Amino acid sequence: MNKTKSIVVASLIAGLGLVSCTENGSKHRNPGKIYAPDMTYSRAYDAYTANPNFADGQSSRLPVSGAVAMGHELPDHMVEGDTNAYKAFTTNLRFNEAELAEGKRLFNIYCGICHGNNLDGQGPLYASGKFAAMPANLKDAKYLHMTPGTMYAAIKFGKNAMGAYASQLDVKQRWMVIAYIKKVQSENGGDAFTFGASNTPAAPAADTAKAVATTETAKH
Ligand code: HEC
Repeated sequence: MNKTKSIVVASLIAGLGLVSCTENGSKHRNPGKIYAPDMTYSRAYDAYTANPNFADGQSSRLPVSGAVAMGHELPDHMVEGDTNAYKAFTTNLRFNEAELAEGKRLFNIYCGICHGNNLDGQGPLYASGKFAAMPANLKDAKYLHMTPGTMYAAIKFGKNAMGAYASQLDVKQRWMVIAYIKKVQSENGGDAFTFGASNTPAAPAADTAKAVATTETAKH
């Protein structure tokens, strides 16, 4: 009899132990002894945490002023309103068919709403009467010979009722859009198109080296 009692008591205690283990979740999360804890628990400050080392108390830092993201073009350092400098401003970048198609896609996303996907200034926003200022008709004689640099300034800083698109389009994308506009203009009485790059894959070694060199200079 005594033996049975102690078995019951023992199993009750064991049961309680099990229950308390499962109920107290924190016990599961305590790993006990841990090997090389600084591999599990980083000593470095995590992003978005408080940090006493900086005046603003934040761990996340902005890039150093003037930093250029990898793969991006160097910024120009001209100022808004320097119309003469921008008039003469241009790029070494040259675009193949796929990039011109990308320029068209970007134009239709960001510019077509006002300038029209046909570049005729009759985009849906203006045509609806909701936007009072007439967007430039890029097929009009007034704009057909506008220099690429002047267009660049309009994208970067905006122009009167048109807002800036500097934060939507990086430097290469701005030139892609301009190249697309210039392509369409060249087919509508504008200047000869000069932003095109050859699509032909350069097979012989000599040609490949030349092509690489061209791309390199184009990047800077
Ligand atoms: C919200 C409407 C709107 C959008 C979107 C817009 N524009 Fe414009 N844009 C205008 C208006 C309005 C003008 C005429 C400004 C003036 O001359 O007063 C203009 C003028 C221009 C000019 C002529 C600049 C000059 O110096 O006369 C160019 C080039 C141009 N836009 C390109 C673009 C490109 C490229 C985009 C897309 C990245 C774009 N625009 C997006 C409304 C817009």
